[in-house]
Amino acid sequence: MTQPAILFVCLGNICRSPLAEAAFRARAADAGLDARVDSAGTAGWHVGDPPDRRAQTTALRHGADISRYRGRQIETADFHRFTHIFALDQDNLTSLRQSAPADGTAEIGLLLDLVDDLRGQPVADPYYGDEAGFERTWDQVDAAAQALVARLTRDRAG
Ligand code: 4NP
Repeated sequence: MTQPAILFVCLGNICRSPLAEAAFRARAADAGLDARVDSAGTAGWHVGDPPDRRAQTTALRHGADISRYRGRQIETADFHRFTHIFALDQDNLTSLRQSAPADGTAEIGLLLDLVDDLRGQPVADPYYGDEAGFERTWDQVDAAAQALVARLTRDRAG
């Protein structure tokens, strides 16, 4: 089976998708799962920026240093480079479907569809809220990361 390559996509790529990337990296490492991982935004406002301070603090509290992550915008090649692209909310999913090339090979889905209890729900944007919102974001993306690692591990076992 080809190596899984996972891309997490939110709006700005400075709050939610970097946390999803960090949670997935940690869960994949714990499980010994070899996968490529990245994150991106549908908007280009924060290209080259480090993650939001509150996201960095939240990640550190959970043992992940994301200070070297940098914002980038989704590009057409991503739909070929990645095997799975996960949108953090429905707006991001709509944007992804609109920008996907007809011959794109990545499987596109909503992140919380991976979690039985959270199916169909968005990861709410914590940008305009307080630190507690980022902690809630972590809990949601970490639940999705665990479910995705379990699924990919099963797939690998064939
Ligand atoms: P994210 O959050 O999509 O989770 O990275 C946002 C970050 C920045 C903005 C909006 C959402 N913004 O409007 O700049």
